[in-house]
Amino acid sequence: MRTFMVANPKGGCGKSTLAVHLASWFARCDEIVYLADLDRQKSSRHWLQLRSLSLPQIRYWSLSENDLSQPPPDCSLAILDTPAGLHGKSLRKALSEVDRVIVPVSSSLFDMLALQDFFEELAEIKAVRKDKVGIAVVGMRIDQRTISSQQLIEFLNEFDLPLLSCIRDSQRYVQSVNSGTTLFDTYSPLARDLEEWKPLLDWLVNRR
Ligand SMILES: Nc1ncnc2c1ncn2[C@@H]1O[C@H](COP(=O)(O)OP(=O)(O)O)[C@@H](O)[C@H]1O
Ligand SMILES: [Mg+2]
Repeated sequence: MRTFMVANPKGGCGKSTLAVHLASWFARCDEIVYLADLDRQKSSRHWLQLRSLSLPQIRYWSLSENDLSQPPPDCSLAILDTPAGLHGKSLRKALSEVDRVIVPVSSSLFDMLALQDFFEELAEIKAVRKDKVGIAVVGMRIDQRTISSQQLIEFLNEFDLPLLSCIRDSQRYVQSVNSGTTLFDTYSPLARDLEEWKPLLDWLVNRR
């Protein structure tokens, strides 16, 4: 059983979009996937309610910031979508339960400023220092060929964190999530999109 958490202190950076895409990818890979939504807005939960029963199943794991119980016994992979502003005790508690943290980021100055404290806080947490929890940064709505992605890489260098993948800005993400699906549920996901996701998916599958 493994647990991945999607986190970033800022709202609107793509946490829920990333979380539901990971859930649908791994459900497609025959994992017994549970999706937990710690955010009061419950975006992932609403998405799950829209999801057709004919698609690979993703189960809902009811969880809150204050009650991080163990995942259901049949769970092979749990994905935690988290709220903006997760920090302090709640962040430490959540980190003690997870194997990997995926941080979706954009390259705007405001996003990078918000991340500075978050990365510093992560670096001080024991599980991260001891390498029990791996951290990956994913550029969200970023084209790898742009100056924005270069600026992001430079910013991440300060924290010794690589930019693992860049996911482009596309209405396909908005439209698919609006109908309870993901790009991975469509009959033929674009090769270009799969290529963008591949480094992240490989890193998550790789047990180090
Ligand atoms: N790669 C993308 N391309 C286009 N729109 C995106 C992409 N990722 C996220 N969005 C949109 O950005 C907005 C915020 O995303 P969301 O996943 O809800 O962020 P968060 O959970 O961090 O608040 C949503 O409207 C979502 O559809
Ligand atoms: Mg969200």
